[in-house]
Amino acid sequence: NLILLVAAVSLIVAGTTTAFAGKKIVNGIDANFPPFAYIDKTGKPAGFDVEAMEWIAKDLGLEVEHMPIDWDGIITSLLTKKIDIIASGMSITPDRSEKVTFTIPYWKINQVMVVKKDSTLTMNDLMKGGKKIGVQQGTTEAKWLKAESEPRAWNFKLGYYSSSPLAVEDVLNGRIAAAAMDDAPAHDAVSKKDVKILGNFGMEAEDFGYAVRKDETELLEKINASLKKLMATPYWDELAVKYNLK
Ligand code: ARG
Repeated sequence: NLILLVAAVSLIVAGTTTAFAGKKIVNGIDANFPPFAYIDKTGKPAGFDVEAMEWIAKDLGLEVEHMPIDWDGIITSLLTKKIDIIASGMSITPDRSEKVTFTIPYWKINQVMVVKKDSTLTMNDLMKGGKKIGVQQGTTEAKWLKAESEPRAWNFKLGYYSSSPLAVEDVLNGRIAAAAMDDAPAHDAVSKKDVKILGNFGMEAEDFGYAVRKDETELLEKINASLKKLMATPYWDELAVKYNLK
């Protein structure tokens, strides 16, 4: 029975393996995270991280495919070899670093609250007024707000969403008072919808990095070298301007 079980498990693992074979790399993206990763009007993956990965792959002589994956399960997808890398606006954290290895940091990110444009709420109203706040499930802001609520005597209720834009929709229709997210997607929302940024709510700035499996040391070295190279080219700043990060 044990042998059967082992055989079955091996089959399942083999069936889902697209392990980095040295030619093609599969990048897992949260396709609802503009401006870092999203699907454009023509149905193609776009965004700062998508284009950065295109450059890196070309530099390394690899093909890259961007595969939309649910954010909350994206690390699992990396560990089970459904994807080979996560280049999609992920903060480097000690928790995540226990499971995956991150590249060098490439972007500093702050966390902010997004409210309706005509809202008169203060940050204090929001945190202590029994309001509902939306967060994307599986994010550092979701974890932080949950952990800090009691020690800081906050009494908001958290609502969980599969993406930041969905939380913004509920801010607009009044189901929640605010949505907590990274500043870049917040600015993106402000440029498209009747919302504004209320400001930082106490989290420390984080660093984005790209994640690979811990045993892919050669891939990590290559990506790091290429990323460093890319960050020193004018194209890096052009990308940042193109995606309104600067
Ligand atoms: N800073 C947060 C984190 O790393 C939010 C990132 C959300 N990124 C995304 N692609 N949805 O958890």
